[in-house]
Amino acid sequence: MCGIIGYIGSKEAKDILIQGLKSLEYRGYDSSGLALFNQTSSKIEILKTQGKIVKLEEKIAAYLGAKEVVTSGKTNASSEFNSIVQERVKDAIENSTCGVGHTRWATHGKPNDINSHPHQDFSGDLAIVHNGIIKNYFQIKEELEAEGVEFRSETDTEVIAQLLSKYRSQGNDNIAAIRQTIKRLEGSYALAIIMIDKETDEQKIYLAKNQSPLVIGVGEDENYIASDSSTVLQFTDKILRLKDGQIAKLTAKDIKIEDLDGSEAKIEIHQSMQTSSILEKGPYKHFLIKEINEQPAVISTMLNTAIPDSSEPIKGFENLDIDFKSLNRIVFVACGSAYHAALVGKNLIELWAKVPVEVEVASEFCSKPSLVGAKDLVIGISQSGETADTLSAITSAKKNGAQVMALTNKSDSAIYDACQPNTVVTPAGIEVSVASTKAFTSQVLALYLFAIKITEERHGETMTKAKEELRSLPLVIDQAIERADSYYKQFIKYSSYRDFLFLSRGVNYPIALEGALKLKELSYIHATGYPSGEMKHGPIAILDSSVPVLSIAIDGESEYEHMIYKKALSNAEEARARMSPSLVIACDNNEDVGNLFDEVIRIPNISQLYSPIIATIPLQFLAYYIAMDLGKDVDQPRNLAKSVTVE
Ligand code: M6R
Repeated sequence: MCGIIGYIGSKEAKDILIQGLKSLEYRGYDSSGLALFNQTSSKIEILKTQGKIVKLEEKIAAYLGAKEVVTSGKTNASSEFNSIVQERVKDAIENSTCGVGHTRWATHGKPNDINSHPHQDFSGDLAIVHNGIIKNYFQIKEELEAEGVEFRSETDTEVIAQLLSKYRSQGNDNIAAIRQTIKRLEGSYALAIIMIDKETDEQKIYLAKNQSPLVIGVGEDENYIASDSSTVLQFTDKILRLKDGQIAKLTAKDIKIEDLDGSEAKIEIHQSMQTSSILEKGPYKHFLIKEINEQPAVISTMLNTAIPDSSEPIKGFENLDIDFKSLNRIVFVACGSAYHAALVGKNLIELWAKVPVEVEVASEFCSKPSLVGAKDLVIGISQSGETADTLSAITSAKKNGAQVMALTNKSDSAIYDACQPNTVVTPAGIEVSVASTKAFTSQVLALYLFAIKITEERHGETMTKAKEELRSLPLVIDQAIERADSYYKQFIKYSSYRDFLFLSRGVNYPIALEGALKLKELSYIHATGYPSGEMKHGPIAILDSSVPVLSIAIDGESEYEHMIYKKALSNAEEARARMSPSLVIACDNNEDVGNLFDEVIRIPNISQLYSPIIATIPLQFLAYYIAMDLGKDVDQPRNLAKSVTVE
């Protein structure tokens, strides 16, 4: 939801914080800010502004005297501060070696300068950045207001700053004051706080977390803090993950961590094998197109690990502590694209393993945890591993005695931790572009593999045919991506439409939903996905020449697949009869679609049951090309964030 960065050492903090914030911008981008400790004055200076990080850079440049950088907008340092303060801020920008930064996705209060982080207490002795959401902030705010505290912002974060200040003013040392503060907080938080240690008169950075991620990068006489390890990896490969309930105290040379019970925690530093190249666009214009192009490699890596030999049992699930034979039911909990992946998984598990599967939008699961028990496996799917709705569904299912499992891209995440040891991590890595592409297709493939695993465990059969079909995917997906130019020519004609309908049946119905979501997110065009057969029960009323209907109609080998294909075609004809421009995604060898549609979008041959990943590719291009044509911000669409840590 929001991104946190911090630095304490001997280098210029401002540059490191800005570099880190740019890597974290995918987590939220409506405002950003820095708190820099000024060693000369022993004061904390705050720079923050509405808008993307480039606006913060403009503000910094304005303070440094490069006023020509500020060509428009409201930023005008000289009108905001008197010259003494200006000099102090300038000094901090140029010389500070300790600071924290934040990039925000607004939850409490509009995205404006005042609500931007960092937030301070009334004395200005501390500055705090926060990722997460404090559910009981209003109650604490009222209590503090009754004691005379005046609030400047509408945020839950300022409440933490003022509460912490209150406990400090009662004579507690910093750690004790933080401990008392977090005892009062209900909700999720990753906190990075700059404060003077009253005992040593040194500036320090303090950290605390609950359910929101926070990692420390350990350098030579310097320490870094960030919301994700990829950001820290730009500076050091020595990573320390803070755990829920812990409080850390950082100087340049030292890290001390206290556990929830107040005892000193063991410092466990890991040497990371990852690289930070994931955060670079390379030759691509956008992260989105880079990530679309990474899909064949991700799919190929997964298949090489899981199916080195099609005649042998599937590999890669050895860590799972689940008795598949005794399972009564599987319940998926997920949101957005992950929810669509779960729907594909349901089709496969029910078809092959004959285990009943339910798929719940995670935010709707809160009324149902008592319906799951020990013989149920609740699987949370989440690329970020942080989605609050999914985490909360998993936590409540676990409390009710259900077995839980996570399918995620991130092993350093709350959802991964909550489901240990039952975790499956896809090798897709971090996605930077907000719209999910490679994470989605890797989840879908992981569910094919998982469905095979359950089937093999329960029915004692080796699913050689299915594995051979899957082994062809990397080549076919590559061939589909190679058609990008022809997709461009076909799709660009449709960017002026304001509504779209996406239809399909069976295993590709979730792909219709995913196609509609992608188009909506990236281009802001209204789009809805429906099961083809459901269109005649209502949505058909909106059809006319202004509403294109895109169908996915892919034939297959079995009678069932052929029946689905024929029905999808006849539903598409019903739409065409209402004058809707008609598009279809079909394989090269699905010849009978030719005369039925205005636009036939061809994908390489693949049979229906194995086609969802391939059918997704042109839909990713559709959304990308239309968004570009409409001049939208492809990687950071308005109002969205990459990880949604609020319920
Ligand atoms: O991190 P998660 O996979 O849990 O995120 C779930 C949804 O928020 C996410 O899929 C969202 O719908 C994407 N922006 C889709 O492109």
